[in-house]
Amino acid sequence: MKLFYLIFLAILSQDISAKPSYKNYKVYKITPKSKDALKILKDLKKEEKDFSAFQFWKKPIKVGHDVALMIGPEIQQNFEQMLNDSYFDRRVLMKDVQKAIDNENRFWKSNVKNSVNWTVYNTLDEINNWLESLATEFPSYITILKPGKTYEGRDIVGVKLDFNPGTQKKVVFMESNIHAREWISSAVNTYILDQFLRNTQTDIRALAQKFTWYFFPVMNPDGFVFSHTDDRLWRKTRTSYGLHYGADPNRNWDYKWMTNNGASLYPGEINYAGPHPFSEKSVKVMSEFIASITSNMIAYIAFHSFSQVLLLPYGHTKEPLDNYNEMMGIAKVAMAKLEAVHNTKYTFGNVGEEMYIATGTSMDWVKGNFHIPIVCTYELRPQFEKPGESGFILPSEQILPTGEETLVSLIPIFEEYEKLHPST
Ligand SMILES: *[C@@H]1O[C@H](CO)[C@@H](O)[C@H](O)[C@H]1NC(C)=O
Ligand SMILES: *[C@@H]1O[C@H](CO)[C@@H](O)[C@H](O)[C@H]1NC(C)=O
Ligand SMILES: [Zn+2]
Repeated sequence: MKLFYLIFLAILSQDISAKPSYKNYKVYKITPKSKDALKILKDLKKEEKDFSAFQFWKKPIKVGHDVALMIGPEIQQNFEQMLNDSYFDRRVLMKDVQKAIDNENRFWKSNVKNSVNWTVYNTLDEINNWLESLATEFPSYITILKPGKTYEGRDIVGVKLDFNPGTQKKVVFMESNIHAREWISSAVNTYILDQFLRNTQTDIRALAQKFTWYFFPVMNPDGFVFSHTDDRLWRKTRTSYGLHYGADPNRNWDYKWMTNNGASLYPGEINYAGPHPFSEKSVKVMSEFIASITSNMIAYIAFHSFSQVLLLPYGHTKEPLDNYNEMMGIAKVAMAKLEAVHNTKYTFGNVGEEMYIATGTSMDWVKGNFHIPIVCTYELRPQFEKPGESGFILPSEQILPTGEETLVSLIPIFEEYEKLHPST
């Protein structure tokens, strides 16, 4: 009963025309203590739409497993009553989401040309201008790539980094911000690119020079711009679907698309898979580009946030397929190295076991179609278990430490792989 009342209120409070403010929105950590409690959360999840007054930041998976749920002020009281019994453990992780947003990027200034220096989160234009500046500064190593345009007509911009273009090397692809609101992902990806160009440490120089690298910091430019200009929590593309906008560009790749209900077929939902695989123009463009460089590819690394998990293929099943066991061994060493930098703890496993069934991801498409040996996804900081952490809204002071630990963890990934396959 209460659940339906809550949903009714949530639907009433939708306003899809205004720029959303998240003033007094709270994020709760809720742990369902029984199957019935889990079912209440799962039923609520089914009612979640793009502009609902409640949004799951971590969805319900199983009994005893934490959920993160953002709740608007209009329905907080009903919600707290609904959860007020022995079914749930709950605590408030964030008291005011808008305050966290206002504070997140406070060093960034709209009236100046902000450089990409990892003390602020940058806009798409700032990132693209910075990539162009690298091509000017390092003309013999850096090539600008513009494989195509988005639905709204923006260029998707990346770079190729090759310290010795005369010799053929294995290829590594570095992907980020396919999900628009996960700003830390492009900040870390650009940090790694910059370190490869400037860091003089021996192990980093060796790694940078060993491969031909492709960096695409913003895989979903339309959504990324929208997350800066309109809705900080936007995740999808901006393709028009009737009354709704956007599909989830990381549920849209043509591998086991929608198998085992690994996404949604309803356009108003946050994980809408699109009407068919590769319906999203940015995804189609990038899939064609990536397919053209897979013959020599050794690794595909994607950055997302949040949870502090290193994810391996696949998302359509929990089965340990392909070189899962080998990658689990590599992940163990790499995540220990990551933790040693700033004491940041990661877990690791395939998407199906660590998160939930999710299909149509770029990672699974690359692995399943091209059998690339090293394929993984970082779900970066925070873990979002403790009050004071803020989910997608990671304060910009944490960009540098997140970049440092992530960079360090890349070295053992390739070292461990090479120990197992000395010919590479
Ligand atoms: C539920 O809330 C009421 C007040 O709204 C309170 O009196 C009661 O103790 C609460 N019950 C539990 C189990 O927390
Ligand atoms: C980085 O950029 C911001 C915004 O443009 C600026 O305020 C800050 O001083 C810069 N920091 C460094 C270390 O250059
Ligand atoms: Zn993501």
